[in-house]
Amino acid sequence: MTINLDRPDMIVAVIGAGAMGRGIAQVCAQAGLQTLLFDARDGAVAEAIAVVDKGLDGQVAKGRMSADDKASVMQRLRPMASLADAASAGLVIEAIVEDLAVKRELFRALEKHLGADAVIATNTSSLSVTEIAAGCERPARVGGLHFFNPPPVMKLVEVIGGLRSDPALVDALVAFALRIGKQPIVATDTPGFVVNHAGRAYGPEALRIVAQGIASPREVDILMKEAAGFRMGPFELFDLIGADITHAVMESIFARYYDEPMYQPSAQLAVRVAGGLLGRKTGRGFYDYADAPKTSAPTILVAPRPKPASVWIADEDGAAELAALLNAAGIQATVGGAPSAHAVNIVTPLGEDCTGAALRLKLDPARTVAVDMVGRFKGRYTVMKNPLTAPDALGATVAALAATGAPVTAINDSIGFVVQRLLAMIVNVGSRIAELRVAAPADIDTAVELGLNYPRGPLALGDLLGPARVLAVLDHMQAATHDPKYRATAWLRRRAALGVSLRTPD
Ligand SMILES: NC(=O)c1ccc[n+]([C@@H]2O[C@H](COP(=O)([O-])OP(=O)(O)OC[C@H]3O[C@@H](n4cnc5c(N)ncnc54)[C@H](O)[C@@H]3O)[C@@H](O)[C@H]2O)c1
Repeated sequence: MTINLDRPDMIVAVIGAGAMGRGIAQVCAQAGLQTLLFDARDGAVAEAIAVVDKGLDGQVAKGRMSADDKASVMQRLRPMASLADAASAGLVIEAIVEDLAVKRELFRALEKHLGADAVIATNTSSLSVTEIAAGCERPARVGGLHFFNPPPVMKLVEVIGGLRSDPALVDALVAFALRIGKQPIVATDTPGFVVNHAGRAYGPEALRIVAQGIASPREVDILMKEAAGFRMGPFELFDLIGADITHAVMESIFARYYDEPMYQPSAQLAVRVAGGLLGRKTGRGFYDYADAPKTSAPTILVAPRPKPASVWIADEDGAAELAALLNAAGIQATVGGAPSAHAVNIVTPLGEDCTGAALRLKLDPARTVAVDMVGRFKGRYTVMKNPLTAPDALGATVAALAATGAPVTAINDSIGFVVQRLLAMIVNVGSRIAELRVAAPADIDTAVELGLNYPRGPLALGDLLGPARVLAVLDHMQAATHDPKYRATAWLRRRAALGVSLRTPD
């Protein structure tokens, strides 16, 4: 087939006028393309066009678009009476219900009307593009254009070639995405492509942390925002997207990767979904939206103590930086040597819990407290106790850190604290996506920044933390738990050993 999606007069037909379809149609019409819209439900297209019309009125009112421009966008956006109207289209974008059989039936029906060189792109999130295409007379014409919600706002589009797609199809879809003002990245036809795959670290690991009584959802959210610089905490995100949607994605990716432990869904979330605690849309999720916002009690109550005159810090990763911060706050911090003269022994472990670090360093567990120096880009500190830490030692450590002017969160013992552990999982899943050749390293980072709104892509994040440090966190987490979900990928292990960027190709 001859693929040409560059023609100035090319017509786009969007099938499915729901949340995604109407947004995609708006984007195409705004990019100057004649755009047709179809839906199987009576009245759905008229409703969708009315929603677009109202949205653009808002843009005009804010001065972001002229009334004339709006009128021409609306002129370019036209309803289709039947699928036969797709005959004039060079590209059909499908955004109907997420059901393989229904999509395949639609594609077969469409093929009866389309020209030989017309392309069909599916917006599927969780089905295989190859499998959808396999039901077509010409699978070569089928590819994936995965938009994000809401399409007019979200810049990213994942472009997916099926195994039987025409060799020129991916490049043509990339050029089309650029033509409509989007940022394309190319992904292989694998479960969750890049974005929904990369998202399998943040939420699931946060759920494990809460299930293990280490910190509350609110404490995890605060740490991820105030210590790690994320725009939203994982539990705020669950409530925004809906626990039912997120849980379904978790189950789908886990099943489609044949029970890969890294992607294990949460039994606790399953109960919340079954109980209807879905988030904002039901008024209650991890937070309560019905009444005035409630503050949950902290996981650990720390009795206020005066700031200590001195502390001892084990001579490990991050100790020198912590000592400098404490010294500047008027606390004499001694790094290394004999700890016996001090009331507080601080450890700064990587992927190890406070118990493990105290025993390894032969410290008195009752006087040992751990501080996360890796999972801290911004102000907030995490302080972690072990089951024997004395309240005095914990209170003195919190007072010492508070004296530096930064807020402090105290948590129960955890392999890798909260932030360190979540960041290491994000980097490891990103490395696995690179290892499986789902996308090029730079595209993985772009997809995660634009699609998930993380401050950095997973590979760039790993480079910032230091690949060797991330590897140490994961290796220690796995050694402590014997849990295969924490095993580091060969991609990460190799680059850490060579001392090079996680974006380094093979
Ligand atoms: N909602 C999201 O966040 C999101 C993000 C990316 C991709 N997607 C994918 O986009 C697709 C659509 O999702 P949505 O959220 O817009 O769903 P939606 O339920 O809002 O809209 C689907 C529309 O398709 C119509 N429809 C169903 N069967 C049809 C058929 N055979 N022919 C024509 N129209 C038909 C329905 O009447 C409905 O209006 C799905 O494949 C979904 O996985 C959704």
